[in-house]
Amino acid sequence: MGDRKGLSHIPLPISYTPSFWRTSVQAIKTGVWNGVIREFYDFLPRVKEDAIVTLNEGNTPLIEVKNLRDIVGDVKLYLKYEGLNPTGSFKDRGMTMAVSKAKDDGSHAVICASTGNTSAAAAAYASRGGLRAYVLIPAGKIALGKLSQAMMHGATVVQVEGNFDEALSIVKDIAKTYPITLVNSINPYRLEGQKTAAFEVCNHLGFSPIYHFLPVGNAGNITAYWNGYKEYRGRGIINTLPKMMGFEAEGAAPIVRGYPIKNPETVASAIRIGNPSSWQAAVKARDESGGVIDMVSDDEIIYAYKLLASREGVFCEPASAASIAGVIKMHKKGIFKNGDTIVCTLTGHGLKDPDTAIKSSDKPITVPAELGKVVKVLGF
Ligand SMILES: Cc1ncc(COP(=O)(O)O)c(C=O)c1O
Repeated sequence: MGDRKGLSHIPLPISYTPSFWRTSVQAIKTGVWNGVIREFYDFLPRVKEDAIVTLNEGNTPLIEVKNLRDIVGDVKLYLKYEGLNPTGSFKDRGMTMAVSKAKDDGSHAVICASTGNTSAAAAAYASRGGLRAYVLIPAGKIALGKLSQAMMHGATVVQVEGNFDEALSIVKDIAKTYPITLVNSINPYRLEGQKTAAFEVCNHLGFSPIYHFLPVGNAGNITAYWNGYKEYRGRGIINTLPKMMGFEAEGAAPIVRGYPIKNPETVASAIRIGNPSSWQAAVKARDESGGVIDMVSDDEIIYAYKLLASREGVFCEPASAASIAGVIKMHKKGIFKNGDTIVCTLTGHGLKDPDTAIKSSDKPITVPAELGKVVKVLGF
């Protein structure tokens, strides 16, 4: 090795002297984000400190859309990017609450039916908290990333030869009979945790948006957001409430059509749900807020999904893109005014569903490992 004397003899530039560090360190807000239960302590049901099971979920970014004026008009559109939660979806907000409460109540196991993301979150939070997790999923119908998460976190994964609605009905019966806590969104603590996303939107903006768009499956999240906004207004933190704008997929649109769908079908597997648990609550959120529950086609979903990834650098899963597809649909109807503030929740990360991403994209070009051939396909 050469002559390494270390750097201590080299005078530091003036801006990096110890006194600089002292002053700047004092100016920095220290401490980490502690997860939604601790950060929104005054707004959530009490959990004993040593029962809190958290992966420091929440505090996801609100990203302003920059490049879609030609598509959505002259509005201020923000993406609440929930795919950046620890397991890659908004479910973590509710799962920290539900699993912590289960632990606090002395439960040793949790169970859920899932289109994928709930099972991933339940498995992760249960493993973190030392509980067992049992998850029922529609056989062959959930995105690969989500399945891999449930398996890696050590859940007992049961594939049911049926759809989500059938799986949910089975887990409800199991939870009634056996000592195991149901952590689907009919567990009220789930929605309590999920409402914190509305708090964050208001905290980040400094006010409430005019419209809040989100995808609708089992209809828990639209209900939770509405509860959150109402609670913030009730406490005088915001003055106005947004219109709640929920979007189902056309092949899985029971609320829009007004009756349960026996065999729901859509490319957006996370919202392939025919008989939502929070149906009535979602209708109430729509009506109280003066909003809309509408539907978008799979083509519209995939268009919005690719648009966000290719023009905004934001990769969400297909179900999440139903919210942006909804914004595009409403823009075409001419409901927005210039400058309106719109928030769109992107519920899950695009990496959850690599199959749909690859199917929706141009195939990579394969060439021999030769400079000339590479340059040629690059078009130079
Ligand atoms: C990515 C994603 N988006 C949207 C939803 C629908 O949310 P909710 O069932 O609360 O309506 C889900 C539910 O699984 C989901 O995983």
